[in-house]
Amino acid sequence: MNPFSGGVAVITGAGSGIGAGLARQAGQLGMTVVLADIDGDAIEVLRGEITASGGSAVAVVCDVRNPVAVSQLADRTYRDVGPVRLLVNNAGIEQFGYLWDTPVANWHRVVDINISGVFYGVRAFLPQMMTSDEHAWVWNLSSVGGVLAAPLQGAYIASKHAVLALTECLRLDVESAGHGHHIHVQAVLPAAVVSNIFESAGGVDPAEGSDAAVADQQRSAMLAVKAGAQDAMTAAARIFEQAAEGRFYLLTEPSVAVAMADRANVLAAQLPPLLKRR
Ligand SMILES: NC(=O)c1ccc[n+]([C@@H]2O[C@H](COP(=O)([O-])OP(=O)(O)OC[C@H]3O[C@@H](n4cnc5c(N)ncnc54)[C@H](O)[C@@H]3O)[C@@H](O)[C@H]2O)c1
Repeated sequence: MNPFSGGVAVITGAGSGIGAGLARQAGQLGMTVVLADIDGDAIEVLRGEITASGGSAVAVVCDVRNPVAVSQLADRTYRDVGPVRLLVNNAGIEQFGYLWDTPVANWHRVVDINISGVFYGVRAFLPQMMTSDEHAWVWNLSSVGGVLAAPLQGAYIASKHAVLALTECLRLDVESAGHGHHIHVQAVLPAAVVSNIFESAGGVDPAEGSDAAVADQQRSAMLAVKAGAQDAMTAAARIFEQAAEGRFYLLTEPSVAVAMADRANVLAAQLPPLLKRR
């Protein structure tokens, strides 16, 4: 039986892109979906769509940068909706530009949303998930960028490496605390999926003397990648399938496995980062 055919799913950043795809998929599978996002309008529209097609969803405005708000999201979910079967720490943002040009506020935005937001989700939900022996799943959104190095996206790439490491450590924490038999920690590593992440990404400030042209070029290059990207529903279906199979690394397409193997080779051979490897 599919473990995701019922129960409660909480998805941060559910208002757009991958989060919205996962929310639609969860709703179609029969889960009650808690849509959490800073964009209240977007999650309200999605809540209407999911309920209109016979699903069950609740919209909760929540800024994952705020640990109190994330705790309140958990408390409200357990009190008003039910025990959480699936937590998806998905909210995330991009940042373009040379690392030295990155405005300090933008650096903090990336760290606060992409890394601390995941940590706050773990801190708010895991203790409640571990109060029973019910099976429950935690998915954290890393990226193919979590296993490679790339120029002009240093803050983002660093954050995705951090999420991968955090997720691997969390899995070990859960196991060492004796909950490995029912708490299933899994890392999601998408390749390119259609979303708004590149449009809403931070850039650099030319007034500070930063190289805005090169940051804009990188944004344009990533928007060109988006033109051929996978749609979010296909990505979501793959993620749910692999999670149900009990995999740890949940990949949206085979190219991510190639990047993982490349990373393993680079580390094993102690190769320095190169812009293009021959
Ligand atoms: N789209 C891709 O190609 C891709 C590839 C690899 C990994 N990812 C990861 O997938 C996740 C989702 O990204 P996406 O591409 O769907 O982006 P997106 O911009 O389409 O969606 C992100 C959502 O997060 C919300 N959000 C932003 N800040 C928030 C905050 N502080 N609190 C709560 N919600 C907030 C936004 O309002 C938006 O609805 C991110 O973690 C991203 O790093 C995306």
